[in-house]
Amino acid sequence: PFEWYAEMRSEAPVHYDEHRKTWDVFRYEDVDHVLRNYEQFSADRSDRGDDPSDDAGSDMTVLKTMISTDPPEHERLRGFVNERFQPGILRDYRPRLEELTDELIDGFEDTDRFDFVEEFAVPFPVTVIAELLGIPAERRDQFREWSNALIARPDDPSEEAVQRMRRQRETAQREMGQYFAKLLEERRAGEGDDLVTLAATADELNQQEKIGFCMILLLAGNITTTNLLTNAIWSFEEQGVMDAVQSGDIDRKRAIEEVLRYRSPIQEIQRVTTENVELSGHEIEAGEIVNVWVGAANRDPDVFDEPEAFRPERSPNQHLAFGKGIHYCLGAPLARLEADIALDRLLTRFDRLDGDLSELRPISSHYGLRSLPCRIA
Ligand code: HEM
Repeated sequence: PFEWYAEMRSEAPVHYDEHRKTWDVFRYEDVDHVLRNYEQFSADRSDRGDDPSDDAGSDMTVLKTMISTDPPEHERLRGFVNERFQPGILRDYRPRLEELTDELIDGFEDTDRFDFVEEFAVPFPVTVIAELLGIPAERRDQFREWSNALIARPDDPSEEAVQRMRRQRETAQREMGQYFAKLLEERRAGEGDDLVTLAATADELNQQEKIGFCMILLLAGNITTTNLLTNAIWSFEEQGVMDAVQSGDIDRKRAIEEVLRYRSPIQEIQRVTTENVELSGHEIEAGEIVNVWVGAANRDPDVFDEPEAFRPERSPNQHLAFGKGIHYCLGAPLARLEADIALDRLLTRFDRLDGDLSELRPISSHYGLRSLPCRIA
């Protein structure tokens, strides 16, 4: 999409798409403005009756959660958990997350190749979130299956495959909802420091909202983190910097930020106008859908030097990969921690890790790859 972004940024930075009947916004300054300005650009699309069924990302809007609400609801649905995702609090989880990472890597002991996406980048964030939610060990496999079904995409574009996948997703969503309802009930006494207990004891939330909270962590956090990890290995391999990251010559944390900018797992965020607004000289009526293209903003030459170049040591790097304003990604510190630990452990435990980029199959909706074969030594 990057050539299209460049063209749109210079030719039609705020553009009405006649076919999709939506506004598209490409420049950093405008994207930043829309995301900060929640009063005019609402995150709540429920009034529009959109069919969110085709896109795993928009499924989040079915549940009433922080991601699809405006103030004051938004504050109520997010406030109780904010602190738990602060970097300082998450740091305590580091040793445990390292252990989980090592357990996954142990699985590659007897092999010299594996699919990075399927065997690492997909299970890793699911395992981490199961840990934070306090899912008992014996339910982890089932939990993983549900999570995968929630974010699954059809193997082929046939109507049959789409329907099959939709049914699986609905079943998973229902079963998981029932499972969380039971868990929330059990943990009402408030012992334990897991996130289900936190939700169970949040008096400001009703039962549906508590379940929604548990589910949104999976929907918002898994596929995105999978793609961040995959895009990191992809980019390091492609740019020939794997060795430098491994040796520490390139700062790992900065390199991760550059992956977030250069190959943002979420390329596009949607808002709805609440009133007639003006955006960079364009009049947008109330009730219109506005797509802000984070992926385009993150390569805006007005903000980034050599934006089309992957510069792993770029600093400052004020990318918008986690959004901006009140909906700024709750899980950003967790995603950063996960990526840091995963890359650290992978590049420490193997002398070499070589991604095979000969047959890339990028996915565009949530930007990443379907598979990434790797050779290890
Ligand atoms: C919101 C990206 C990982 C939970 C967002 C938003 C973006 C984003 C762009 C803003 C959406 C909007 O403004 O409408 C990412 C990326 C990730 C990631 C790129 C990984 C690299 C995670 C993880 C979790 C998480 C690991 C949880 C465990 C959330 C939640 C929101 C959110 C709950 C909604 C916040 C709100 O509406 O106030 N994320 N995310 N994300 N993310 Fe993430």
